[in-house]
Amino acid sequence: MIDLSRVAMIGLVGIASTAYAGDTRPSPTAADLMQTGRAVYLQKCASCHGVHGEGAPHWQRPDAQGEMPPPPHDANGHTWKHSDAMLYRLVHDGWRDPFNKTSRLTMPAFAGTLKPVEIRAVIDYIKTMWNAKERAFQREESRHAPFPPEARRMSVKTRE
Ligand code: HEC
Repeated sequence: MIDLSRVAMIGLVGIASTAYAGDTRPSPTAADLMQTGRAVYLQKCASCHGVHGEGAPHWQRPDAQGEMPPPPHDANGHTWKHSDAMLYRLVHDGWRDPFNKTSRLTMPAFAGTLKPVEIRAVIDYIKTMWNAKERAFQREESRHAPFPPEARRMSVKTRE
């Protein structure tokens, strides 16, 4: 007689390993990091970059003030072209397009608001908005430009 519970289990294991083969998304063991990343994204980034990372409409053109609007982080944007080190710097230090007519940081600096591991977590969360090709490209970019050491400590339990 066939043991149906075992068949079901083998089926599940098969699906899981196919889903993760060549997948550059952070491993499921980093679930707490992912949860933190999502929470940070929704609280601190979504108001400008969109809940699903869709960005502002007309993000490719300067607005009335001569500033570049928030770009998308999903597969339509170019966030995936930057290494982990670069993305970390952009979020930590903020950024403005050098051609903006104003001198303010249109992309705010989060150095004083987010802990290094939270910056990393939110960047890892953004990676879930990319397709497999983009994730592979970005992983390659990050091989020699990883997150800084202070952001590589996995525990998010260090928050006060
Ligand atoms: C007040 C609006 C605002 C908030 C809040 C904001 N951003 Fe931005 N962000 C921008 C703007 C505007 C730009 C583009 C700046 C430019 O090119 O002039 C940008 C650019 C970026 C870039 C560079 C993208 C690229 O392809 O070059 C990254 C990465 C980024 N933001 C991440 C984040 C993250 C992560 C958060 C939340 C922690 C966040 N941003 C919160 C407005 C915002």
